[in-house]
Amino acid sequence: MKDVASLSREEAKAELARLANVLHAADKAYFQDDAPERTDAEYDSLKRRNAEIERRFPDLKREDSPSEHVGAAPSDGFRKVRHSIPMLSLENAFGDSDVAEFDRSIRKFLGMSEADPVDYTAEPKIDGLSLSLRYEDGQLGCAATRGDGSVGEDVTANALTIRDVPERIKSAPKLLEVRGEVYMSHEDFAALNARQAEQDDKTFANPRNAAAGSLRQLDPRITAKRPLRFFAYAWGTVSEALADTQEEAINRLRDLGFATNPLMELCQGTAELVAHYRRIEEMRATLNYDIDGVVYKVNDLGLQARLGFRSTTPRWAVAHKFPAELAWTQLESIDIQVGRTGALSPVARLQPVTVGGVVVSNATLHNEDYIAGRDASGNEIRDGKDIRAGDRVQVYRAGDVIPKVADVDLSKRPKGAKPYEFPEECPVCGSPAIREEGDAVRRCTGGLVCRAQAVEKLKHFVSRGAFDIEGLGAKQVEDFHGRGWIAQPADIFLLEDRDRSRERRLKDLEGWGDKSAEKLFVAINDRKRIDFHRFLFGLGIRHLGEAAAKDLARHFNDWPPLAATAIDAAKESAMEDASQAALDRSPGWKEFLSIDGVGRTLVRSLVLTMDQEAERDSIERLVKHLEIVPPDAQASDSPVAGKAIVFTGTLNRMTRNEAKARAEALGARVSGSVSAKTDLVVAGPGAGSKVRKAAELGVETIDEDDWLALVGGA
Ligand code: IVH
Repeated sequence: MKDVASLSREEAKAELARLANVLHAADKAYFQDDAPERTDAEYDSLKRRNAEIERRFPDLKREDSPSEHVGAAPSDGFRKVRHSIPMLSLENAFGDSDVAEFDRSIRKFLGMSEADPVDYTAEPKIDGLSLSLRYEDGQLGCAATRGDGSVGEDVTANALTIRDVPERIKSAPKLLEVRGEVYMSHEDFAALNARQAEQDDKTFANPRNAAAGSLRQLDPRITAKRPLRFFAYAWGTVSEALADTQEEAINRLRDLGFATNPLMELCQGTAELVAHYRRIEEMRATLNYDIDGVVYKVNDLGLQARLGFRSTTPRWAVAHKFPAELAWTQLESIDIQVGRTGALSPVARLQPVTVGGVVVSNATLHNEDYIAGRDASGNEIRDGKDIRAGDRVQVYRAGDVIPKVADVDLSKRPKGAKPYEFPEECPVCGSPAIREEGDAVRRCTGGLVCRAQAVEKLKHFVSRGAFDIEGLGAKQVEDFHGRGWIAQPADIFLLEDRDRSRERRLKDLEGWGDKSAEKLFVAINDRKRIDFHRFLFGLGIRHLGEAAAKDLARHFNDWPPLAATAIDAAKESAMEDASQAALDRSPGWKEFLSIDGVGRTLVRSLVLTMDQEAERDSIERLVKHLEIVPPDAQASDSPVAGKAIVFTGTLNRMTRNEAKARAEALGARVSGSVSAKTDLVVAGPGAGSKVRKAAELGVETIDEDDWLALVGGA
């Protein structure tokens, strides 16, 4: 073989073509057929030769250059990919009545009557992990995991090793994002675990873990040895509509070469849906892959578009889950954990037992009533049987939810087992633990003084849906807090300054070095610019989950107006006649309650937080370090992004809920009353005082047709 340095241009071109051929064939043998034809050393040397020629003649680099292809050297980590359309999750239904409620809510939202038929598709819910495949001009350009729904990881090289993922597709739209589930069949899972055990490697608890562990391998050669499969069931961005219905769209994906689930059926109404659910449930044990429920989707894509999305789930789909699996084991002891809101949570320490493929050694016991055999209203649960250390208990898992205790076998209760005495003091800081009237939970009153609360708040702050700081997880938070480096979230942003001014620096600690310390400071600085909803969620306010954080962020757009409204609501709550009815009418409360997804419990909690000086100071200190990014960044090219809109009167072409949801999805804020802050009033027949008020204030008023023309729905 000629030395690269002595190749002429013509020879180099021919040699690159030859190498592309040889290496592509080797890749196919290795990754797709699992039958390597060359040794790793041979393969690497061909790759190096290819790269050398490309370096000498960069303009001769081929479009299908093997250096850009599967089998590339393992990288340090996965590149992050922002999904053009978020990858959402599904609302769950647990019983037939939840399914009926799903159907009813859809009709209500769309303003349809009982007599109007709605078609649904019903298909198995695959227990794997979701993947988005982006094809440009028919070529797979990028495969990304779900990640946090907005940003996933680029696993293209790994996805290409999956038999059901075509690298090229013919007669596809110019741009097509195919979404679906990666899973491992039962046979392949058993064979993999046997192989792993033989080689003294770690085995996997279930096919889902095996699939996730395999897809997220930095070295695609390892993924290639783990036979993964893929079912396509949805799509993201497409340059042209795939079809008019869900069913046709999935059939189109099938025709394009994707594996789709053969058990999908078209159903009308709750009875047909539930009947198909039962059929799939019966077949479950005979399927060669794990499923954990049945997904129902509105078939008409026009209706899907009208129904749109809540913050994290589509309104047009629901996952009807299978009942949880059960197992008996021994409860060894009951421990108390103190959470970020001070809740004392009892945890059952169990003799490890396998439930639904996962080893369970802890289960939640909720609160003291639950242990005593009562529910929140004092009614008996488990026939009034209490739970004691030493008991034989039945545990279950429902989906990803923490395991729970379902039952106690009194016949196996050890002699002398004593009823559990719930502590009345915080086991961490010793402050009184108080149970307020109407609250099922006993809470530590230590506030930020309580180490457990402070640490849990910090852990929450750095967690995935919040600030998600790479390199700063629960373990590091515990450590830094223990050293007195961080007490509040704001301290995280001072870590680098602190580090420079001290002798004992982060890089000197065990497990850290120059590089990792520097990387952490970069990751922290990266998060100084933060999406508004992540900031809100990160505050760790009770009842303020990710969905409500998104709803609040969309409504207020920035922190100062939200904080001002919360302070107003706090003042209103402190008024003498602060009955709930009076509060509901006062401006601060009213504004919060006008937001879809925000209820009184959350407002009370916000008020409580803003009423505490220590909490307020902690937030103010934090805000000084941040640039909060408003949520309408994505929708900012919509004509109503950031605008305050009021709907009034009767709407004929959509329901009020639909109008509101649509406006909010386009980045607008929808309010119930007209004020000087209102930008636009949409008025239907029968509108009265609000239109008059708008005229007085000089606020523009349009009718429903104008509105639809404005937002592109006419
Ligand atoms: S549809 C907009 N269909 O379940 C949401 N999801 O619990 C589109 N999943 O994140 C999802 N089987 O990873 C859909 N047949 C199916 C599914 C399915 C499994 C997963 C998916 C989703 C999760 C929600």
